[in-house]
Formats: sequence, structure tokens, C-alpha cells
Amino acid sequence: MARQLADNPRIVLGLPTGQTPIPLYRELIALYRAGRVDCSHATTFNLDEFVGLGSHDSTSYQRFMCRHLFDHLNFSPRRTHFLNGMAPDAVAECARFEKAIDRAGGIDLMVLGLGRNGHIGFNEPDRALVARTHRTRLSLSTRRANAFLFGDQLRAVPREALSMGMATILSARRIVLFVTGRTKARLVERVLDGRITPRVPGSFLQLHRDVEVWLDAAASLPASSSRRRGSTSSPIASRTKS
Ligand code: GLP
Repeated sequence: MARQLADNPRIVLGLPTGQTPIPLYRELIALYRAGRVDCSHATTFNLDEFVGLGSHDSTSYQRFMCRHLFDHLNFSPRRTHFLNGMAPDAVAECARFEKAIDRAGGIDLMVLGLGRNGHIGFNEPDRALVARTHRTRLSLSTRRANAFLFGDQLRAVPREALSMGMATILSARRIVLFVTGRTKARLVERVLDGRITPRVPGSFLQLHRDVEVWLDAAASLPASSSRRRGSTSSPIASRTKS
């Protein structure tokens, strides 16, 4: 990311929430503090937001991003875009977001994490996916995975969200996917080498011509051997599909 920002200071980034990117954001902040990164001309679009949560809700993804990234670097608030979970008209809000991405010239670098059920953004496993930014229902497993943001109170986790669609994500010029932890080892095999199916939304990334995948050792071992070795953290290995 730092290199991309240096090469193209006006870069348009797509950014995820979740536990996975937190160390990445921490590194970026460290580089900024060391004077090695300038974000003042970059534009960002966040992937998703819970319906019913706004910029002032401590549990919103917008606040998550401020806490973990934006409060610590010099991104311009004018060029930092979020879906508004409080918007009275979700359809209009999603259309506004798509238009803003278009106006910015499209996303240059889309950074992604992978949900435990194979979702990307909040494109949940289903019989079919929605192409563009839309309102969506969250599965129980996704609500469980997000409960940590709500003091482990599953009841407090919203049932719906707004999310970039899979086509919005695949329109990015370049994609980097980060997957860590042994619980995702088997899933990552299905994402990278399995059939392309809406039951595993991440599998649609196989259709993109410039995806870089970063796995830590735990996520890159077959699920059985990672269980045997029980490794959870070690250098990250990269794998490019083009
Ligand atoms: C959430 C987000 C996704 C993210 C996923 C993975 O559900 N909507 O964009 O990739 O969680 O989270 P984690 O990195 O915590 O496993």
C-alpha cells in the first residue's frame, strides 16, 4: 500500500474492516509516523456498513476505521467515503456510493479480508449474488463473527448491512486479499481453487486478472496439517493469480 501511495498519490483505495487488516493499518500508521507515507491526496471507499448505525455510533464500521486508521494518518475527510447505514433510502444511498466511486475514476487498489463463511464485504453466501452496492441480510455466522464489536452481545449486532456488490469489487483495477488464521485454511482452498459459486462469494475473485493473495502460514496449510501443527502466526506468504 505504501508503495502504491508513493507511485500514485491520488490513488483510490477500497478498504475493509475486520480483525485481519488491523496489523496492516498499524504498519501503515507506523510508516506515516516515520514520514514514509503521505495519504493527503488519496481517496478511500469503505466496503460496507451496518444498517441503522451512523458515523457517531461507536460500533459502526465508520468509527472502526477512524479508530484503526483515519484518526492517525493524513487522509483528507473530503475524500474518505463511507456508506451511511442511517440513510432513510438505502437504494438511493447505494446509488450515491456507486456514483461517487465512478466520479473518483474507479478503485485502483481494493484491499479485502475474507469472512469465515467465504463472504467478501457483506456479500454473503447465497443462491445468487447482487452485482452492485446494495442492502443485504446478514447470516447468523457473520453476526456472530461481528459480535466482538458489540461487547459480544449477538442481539445487538444488526441484521442488515449495506455492501459493495461483487461486480463493484471486481471492477477494481487491482485486488489484494489477506487471509490469516488456521480456521480459514480450508476455506481459502475453496476460494482460490474451488468452483466459482455464490455459495463461496470469495471464489468470484478467480475471475479477476490482478489479485494478490497474502496468507499467513496457518491459513496456507491444508486444514488438517495446520490443526496438527497448531501454528497461528508466522511470516505471510504471497500468491498471485493473474
Ligand atoms: C466482516 C466484514 C468483511 C471482513 C470480514 C472478515 O464481516 N464485513 O469485510 O472481511 O468481516 O473479518 P475478519 O478479518 O475479522 O475475519
